[in-house]
Amino acid sequence: MQALTTRPVRFFHRGGVVEVDPASPVRTVLEWLREDARCTGTKEGCAEGDCGACTVVLGELDGQGELALKPVNACIQFLPTLDGKALFTVEDLQLPGGEAHPVQQSMLACHGSQCGFCTPGFVMSLWACYQRHQAAGTVPSRQQLADDLSGNLCRCTGYRPILDAGQQMFDLPAAPLSEANVVQALQDLAHSPSLHTRSGFHAPRTVAELADLRVSKPQATLLAGSTDVGLWVTKQFRDLGEIISINRVTELQAVQVQDQHIHIGAAATLEAAWRALAVEWPTLRDVWLRFASLPIRSVGTMGGNVANGSPIGDSAPVLMALDAVVVLQHGDRQRTLPLPDFYLGYMQNALQPGEFVHSVLVPRRQGANVVRAYKISKRFDCDISAVCAGLMVQLDGQQRIQQVRLAWGGLAATVKRAAATEAAMQGQPWAEATLQSAQFALAQDFQPLSDMRASAGYRLQVAQNLLKRFWLETRAEAPLPESAVSVWARQSMGAAAPSTT
Ligand SMILES: Cc1cc2nc3c(=O)[nH]c(=O)nc-3n(C[C@H](O)[C@H](O)[C@H](O)COP(=O)(O)OP(=O)(O)OC[C@H]3O[C@@H](n4cnc5c(N)ncnc54)[C@H](O)[C@@H]3O)c2cc1C
Ligand code: FES
Ligand code: FES
Repeated sequence: MQALTTRPVRFFHRGGVVEVDPASPVRTVLEWLREDARCTGTKEGCAEGDCGACTVVLGELDGQGELALKPVNACIQFLPTLDGKALFTVEDLQLPGGEAHPVQQSMLACHGSQCGFCTPGFVMSLWACYQRHQAAGTVPSRQQLADDLSGNLCRCTGYRPILDAGQQMFDLPAAPLSEANVVQALQDLAHSPSLHTRSGFHAPRTVAELADLRVSKPQATLLAGSTDVGLWVTKQFRDLGEIISINRVTELQAVQVQDQHIHIGAAATLEAAWRALAVEWPTLRDVWLRFASLPIRSVGTMGGNVANGSPIGDSAPVLMALDAVVVLQHGDRQRTLPLPDFYLGYMQNALQPGEFVHSVLVPRRQGANVVRAYKISKRFDCDISAVCAGLMVQLDGQQRIQQVRLAWGGLAATVKRAAATEAAMQGQPWAEATLQSAQFALAQDFQPLSDMRASAGYRLQVAQNLLKRFWLETRAEAPLPESAVSVWARQSMGAAAPSTT
């Protein structure tokens, strides 16, 4: 491999292009903002992506050359990931005449801030929402606003006044971002060569470049959205060595609905990937919107969630129920594995040195298969699952079970299919007696552990109860309607589709 030419990180910030040559590849955007750029409006609360005090907005050009904005957590993003992008913080919101932005004016008018620590983060999430809806000529529902704010915590004000502010900001005279100079800067930055910093951060642009780098630096840390890896630095203080980021590889960002498969590139965001799955299987919508928060889903990837292999990850149970395969690449060779075969043990997977996840292929919806996903966690939004289930059953004309795939997270060292339970259901009528045998068999498949999220007994019981819910929702006679089982359906009664684009 040729010697790599290094260059500084370049991004748009506060009206112009900034060049930074960070001494460490893992200096965070938040550290740079507060300590170097002296933009202290952005706050640090948890330093792990949970509280939203550090929310900033990133701008990128989409496939049509338009500016796309997304909220992200500055505390877990590394500075070099800004390369080629635009960074907006609360300092950017002041209007040309010096007055406050409608987002800020409505927060004031609605008493949306008490101690104020969380406020810049809320304001930036609301600003991203404001910009998106202004561009589309729409106004969000209260529920859609709540989803936009799912990554922001407030300990003192309470959410009612903040949601009021989110609605009232659209009643004030419009103040859209003036985009021309941002777009021009991003177009210019797009001509820069791939980023290699002196401190060892590499961001290839093509799959071939990535594959070469991965083979020549098998010990380097592979980085996608940084929503797991960021915490290795901010919470565990780990030294990551050199970093290879996949998030500038355009080909890996794609989500394509093809004839046979939904193709999800490893760098596709969780938001884009789950959106595509929920279009094919609308019953997945609740778990999509309960996966972390919008800022996490805006940068976190499906590839990272699969590769990370957490036993409580939310994508793997659903992908297993959908019979997904994972495409792995080493050099110019690719191989595919059914997802269950990818996991070898607790946080262990089948990746060989120099190999990476290229994509996930999800077979398109077939015939009469019914799919459900259920997430059990202590908090409704932005919480890690105690148990997560992906369940699929296909019935024949006599209501017998022709095919069944039941995958569970939170019940074992890896996300896993329930072999004995599936065997107890295969070929049987989808009736209460079969449900009872399946519930019994589930206890043979799994002997869960107790931890801070749930006890072993609770985990097993809730999993058995979820099977019952699955049956109640999908049985031929008197299935429970969506309004009886979905919080979204109850809250919006069919009105509000998810808010994000
Ligand atoms: C506040 C918060 C809430 C969260 N909530 C949830 C939740 O509700 N459900 C859930 O499942 N998870 C949740 N997570 C975990 C995390 O968001 C997901 O696991 C996410 O999908 C990780 O993707 P990433 O792109 O950020 O991966 P990264 O953090 O960049 O990488 C994760 C791991 O995958 C490896 N990796 C990444 N891409 C590849 C590739 N292409 N090939 C090989 N290896 C690769 C990395 O080396 C690393 O080991 C949450 C995290 C935070 C901080
Ligand atoms: S400081 Fe809490 S999410 Fe970043
Ligand atoms: S106003 Fe104090 S934390 Fe929100």
